[in-house]
Amino acid sequence: MADHTILFVDDEVNILKALRRLTRHETWNVVTASRGREALEMLERQPAQVVVSDQRMPEMCGVDLLQAVRDRWPDVVRMMLTGYTEMNVAVDAINRGEIYRLITKPWNDEELKATIRQAFDHYDLKREIKRLNQVTREQNFKLQDMNRNLEAKVRERTKQLAEKHQELRRAYVQTIRALAEAVDAKDAYTRGHSERVGVYASKLAREMNFPKEFIERVYIAGLLHDVGKIGVPDRIITKPDRLTDEEYEEIKKHPEIGAKILEPVEFLADVVPCVRHHHEWYDGSDKGYPCRLIGDRIPLPSRVILVADTVEAMTSDRPYRKALKLEMVLSELHRYAGTQFDPVCVRAMLQLLEREGDGFLRKDQKFDIYEFIEG
Ligand SMILES: [Fe+2]
Ligand SMILES: [Fe+2]
Repeated sequence: MADHTILFVDDEVNILKALRRLTRHETWNVVTASRGREALEMLERQPAQVVVSDQRMPEMCGVDLLQAVRDRWPDVVRMMLTGYTEMNVAVDAINRGEIYRLITKPWNDEELKATIRQAFDHYDLKREIKRLNQVTREQNFKLQDMNRNLEAKVRERTKQLAEKHQELRRAYVQTIRALAEAVDAKDAYTRGHSERVGVYASKLAREMNFPKEFIERVYIAGLLHDVGKIGVPDRIITKPDRLTDEEYEEIKKHPEIGAKILEPVEFLADVVPCVRHHHEWYDGSDKGYPCRLIGDRIPLPSRVILVADTVEAMTSDRPYRKALKLEMVLSELHRYAGTQFDPVCVRAMLQLLEREGDGFLRKDQKFDIYEFIEG
């Protein structure tokens, strides 16, 4: 190979001649020097990959030369060729010059050529390893960079998705609210009823330590519990006097109508049964409707909503009576715990009313979807 240059250093001209003769059929570029200083100057001008030096030379000995080569060109493969094989010289050459081989004079031609070939291979191999290490390092840097970018991108996208999701949830709740308001608007006396039932029911669910998703479902079901009133004639809904039995039968259809309205809406599937059963009695008596379910068979959100619904209705003015006082409400809850109401829900409601008093019944309360969905 053209970039394979070997430098022989020896103060004996005959030795240098013999070495040139030995290598004349090889492809190596051969240069020679007879002093250490001269050798270093040559290496500065023209790089060599292998240096073979004698030990005993005037001015600078072989070990000093090879040490200097090692310091300045650590990749150059260094060998010593000497007739002077004292132990201390060999040790010095290995320790200070970090030589690759020590060859003794007189040498065997074929062996020497083979050793030089190995030295070039050794040089090439080390260089290749160095190059590969460098490539690997660069690729690692690139990979780390890519990973960092990717992570940032994933973080950004995840954030965007979460924001979109929240936007959708808000839009969803707002749409449902609009629907509930439309129902309440049929009757001046029930304005805001649905929102308040949703708020009371969700507070009740929170009081009972239910998880977030459950509380949200209770709120949505509370908002929609009377949506079926859309299907009940206005004259019955707004009638200021007591209802006839026939009219009451019409009103009793609203949970079933509501469930039917919501059934086709896929994302409200878990709300449908809560709406359908919000007028069942806990004791399973025939005062409950539409299915006369009993106890645990009634969906839990329906039992929560019934208590909230009753409290809201009792504490709102009606054409035929004024809003009831808090003590009245409490005694009604006590009275119907276990018959109309789930006693567990009643207990939680009593706790809430006791703690918050009239504040619990503030008419302008809204379910804080922002705090709730994002919190
Ligand atoms: Fe209802
Ligand atoms: Fe209601």
